[in-house]
Amino acid sequence: MVLTGHCNNCHTAGYAPREGDVPEKDWLLGSGPLGWRGPWGTTYASNLRLTVPAMTEDAWVAYIKAFRPRPPMPWWSMKETTEPDLRAMYQYIKSLGPAGQHAQAYLPPDREPKQPYNQAPLPPK
Ligand code: HEC
Repeated sequence: MVLTGHCNNCHTAGYAPREGDVPEKDWLLGSGPLGWRGPWGTTYASNLRLTVPAMTEDAWVAYIKAFRPRPPMPWWSMKETTEPDLRAMYQYIKSLGPAGQHAQAYLPPDREPKQPYNQAPLPPK
């Protein structure tokens, strides 16, 4: 699920440019310096190896069913994950072990982010 649900493409630094050639020990540590900028501000994909085990398995299931993070996190797809699959995902992410740093803080739209960032197209006028 972590592979086919694209989590690594955003939550693992270098995963997309290296076409998935990143060792498992480096998975889900966050997008590192890479941000996503758009009308919402600039977001950074979180370090799931720190954020996920910080909650209980039950709290994780409830959180995913109700959360609404900023773009480009596809929460509407993720909340379709069944409860048994969410529990399996929790156990898998926890099994990778805590590592790395927390992601950089979100920046509001009026704050200029450092490079590198992906710029979302401007909304049509
Ligand atoms: C298109 C990029 C993208 C994909 C794909 C993606 N994420 Fe995210 N995710 C993000 C970004 C960016 C944030 C931070 C959003 C914010 O700051 O509000 C985020 C936030 C989250 C959060 C909330 C923050 C936290 O750590 O508690 C969770 C949980 C999460 N993602 C899990 C996943 C999982 C699991 C997958 C795969 C099933 C996944 N994401 C796929 C980009 C992505």
